[in-house]
Amino acid sequence: MSDRDNLKTYPSLSRTPRHVGFIMDGNGRWAKARNLPRHLGHRAGMENVRRILRAAVEFGVPIVTLYAFSTENWQRPQSEVSGILDLLREALANEINELDANSVQLRHMGNWENLPPDIQECFRTATAQTQHNERLIMNIAFNYGGRQEIIAAVRDIVREGIPPEAITEEVFAAHLYTAGQPDPDLIIRTSGEMRVSNFMIWQGAYAEYYVTPVLWPDFDKDEFYKALETFAHRERRYGGIRPA
Ligand code: IPE
Ligand code: IPE
Ligand code: MG
Repeated sequence: MSDRDNLKTYPSLSRTPRHVGFIMDGNGRWAKARNLPRHLGHRAGMENVRRILRAAVEFGVPIVTLYAFSTENWQRPQSEVSGILDLLREALANEINELDANSVQLRHMGNWENLPPDIQECFRTATAQTQHNERLIMNIAFNYGGRQEIIAAVRDIVREGIPPEAITEEVFAAHLYTAGQPDPDLIIRTSGEMRVSNFMIWQGAYAEYYVTPVLWPDFDKDEFYKALETFAHRERRYGGIRPA
């Protein structure tokens, strides 16, 4: 971040989301536009996360969910997948002390069992180290799919022997990875794609969506502010009508 970014002030917003989900898309296109290999796009994308976390704290957003790797992303060439796994290893190892020092609480969302054991260990260490931090909650959706999450919740509910009549929306939500957290008020997708791609399909039922053509590595604090400003002006009706 340049000094100019640090000095810039942003008008305060009339309403701020309690939870923002990011579909961090466009790393590949960012690299392609620069004639670079895709993995450098993923690296630039990872570096952007730091800037967005800092901005989230400054703008008063208490929870962020970052969609980093979907259950469908395993279909990509093995070299790309292993490059992304290496970036995650690197990030969890190198950034955790700074995240901890900034009181960020890290949580994992997604299928746990088929993550490589050393990555499970990195997540375990990072979540344990940061579990009492309160400034910002950062959920990392890695090997995450909304359908996968729902199936995992159903399995847990069945395993616990909860009777059908006791299953309410609240009970169900308490079995998702976001248990105890408010649903995302705002879901931001970078790089222009008008689809959900299996992200928070339960929790996003009444989220406001914001899609920008800006590619994820270029999505900076100004762009984040624009999204928040748009959100602040949205009229949320939840199926009702506008009050007279
Ligand atoms: C998002 O960027 C990162 C992941 C899905 C892992 P992409 O790699 O999907 O970038 P594009 O969509 O090809 O530009
Ligand atoms: C969604 O992006 C997943 C992540 C950002 C991690 P994709 O690039 O995988 O989505 P599609 O393939 O365009 O739907
Ligand atoms: Mg993509």
